[in-house]
Amino acid sequence: MALWGGRFEEGVSEFTQRFGASLPVDKEMYAEDIAGSKAHSAMLAARGVISAEDRDAIHAGLDEILSEIEAGEFPFDINDEDIHMSIESKLIARIGDAGARLHTGRSRNDQVATDTRLFIKRRCRDLMAANIELRRALVDQAEANFDVLLPGYTHLQHAQPVLFSHHMLAYVWMLTRDFERLAAAYRAADACPLGAAALAGTTYPLDRHMTAETLGFARVIPNSLDAVSDRDYLLDLLYACSVSSIHLTRLCEEIILWSTSEFGFVTLSDSYSTGSSIMPQKKNPDFAELIRGKSGRVVGDLVGLLMTLKSLPLAYNKDLQEDKEGAFDAARTMEDCYVCAAGMIATMRVNADAMRAQVKKGYLAATDVADYLAKKGLPFRKAHEVVGHLVLECDKRGCDLEDLELADFQRECDLFEADIVEALNMEAIVAARTTYGGTGHEAVRIQMQEAKAALEADAAAL
Ligand code: ARG
Repeated sequence: MALWGGRFEEGVSEFTQRFGASLPVDKEMYAEDIAGSKAHSAMLAARGVISAEDRDAIHAGLDEILSEIEAGEFPFDINDEDIHMSIESKLIARIGDAGARLHTGRSRNDQVATDTRLFIKRRCRDLMAANIELRRALVDQAEANFDVLLPGYTHLQHAQPVLFSHHMLAYVWMLTRDFERLAAAYRAADACPLGAAALAGTTYPLDRHMTAETLGFARVIPNSLDAVSDRDYLLDLLYACSVSSIHLTRLCEEIILWSTSEFGFVTLSDSYSTGSSIMPQKKNPDFAELIRGKSGRVVGDLVGLLMTLKSLPLAYNKDLQEDKEGAFDAARTMEDCYVCAAGMIATMRVNADAMRAQVKKGYLAATDVADYLAKKGLPFRKAHEVVGHLVLECDKRGCDLEDLELADFQRECDLFEADIVEALNMEAIVAARTTYGGTGHEAVRIQMQEAKAALEADAAAL
């Protein structure tokens, strides 16, 4: 019979037992459930609600159960419904009345909220650590290929030359913001609901601050109804994961494009590629594609929980049992994606020559030629038009701007002089972008230092 079976004459069917159970999902929180029960029983003893002997028996019993679960020897039974009742029922079977006193002044409603918050705090930290490793891999590639030139794109058309390191650092900054979102989810989870009991608090002289402190929570939730109903911290985690997984789709999309024979900008290591069962020549960027694809489930998990929470009246409703599966899935998926992306980036080869060859195409110097004229006094709009004509001329001849003679330039505008050659030099074009955050070597060096400092600060805060 279930631990709540007293007022029932008949049990649930095997089907509804299975349908209503959350054990397959929430058993992952066994360590948090045991920590919560130890903190609760220690507090009950401190407040004289249970005896010190009962507390000691409870702690010893819970320690045994913990070792059994970790050794894979614990007899999980779906008839126990969830992790809370699994552990409690086995505790009672083992130590009798002392175990039956554990649930004094507590409900599964505050218990599950406590366990889930502790678990999510742990998972946030795991994710933050994995986020840092991916940032490190990107920074390392940026440093190793600092001077490599890459065509910068807008509309996926050649735009202006940029440093490859600058391009990599753009992803590092996205991930730096993702870290902050994960940290915000951690802070949201870092509040203790224990002692709210079912919904209204209890008549026992509980010390909620004591249990919160024992469990390492930063604060106590001030409203018992809110304590058992709030799932915002899960939404925060799911949103943080969703944004970050979308960031990874952008990174992976570029890796996939760059590893085509059309681009050839990077070569993925064999360990992050797969072959085809029919086409012997194939080397596919499966893992980049898979990371791109996984974003679907992560965002789906966010939307799923939003819908579950919509219109729920206070306080606990069984709908809330649906909160964990998606959140756990998103955290696991996101962590795996970080780990996979970090390995893929760390081991990819950057083909500087292929990038350089593309820098030569698509009139990447055009803006700088217009700037050359504007700096000589021609209004920029007019300079823009002059260069537009030059580009048209190149298009007709099938050549690039640097293939034109000085006379060709001067036919369009007499402000052109021999020094126009410098305005066509790609290294000089890049180096000239000296504004803060720009792609000039010096500016990128400063940016690199800032990205690394943020990375180290985040790593140290973990
Ligand atoms: N398994 C439940 C959950 O995950 C625990 C709380 C159940 N509380 C209740 N009153 N039925 O939400």
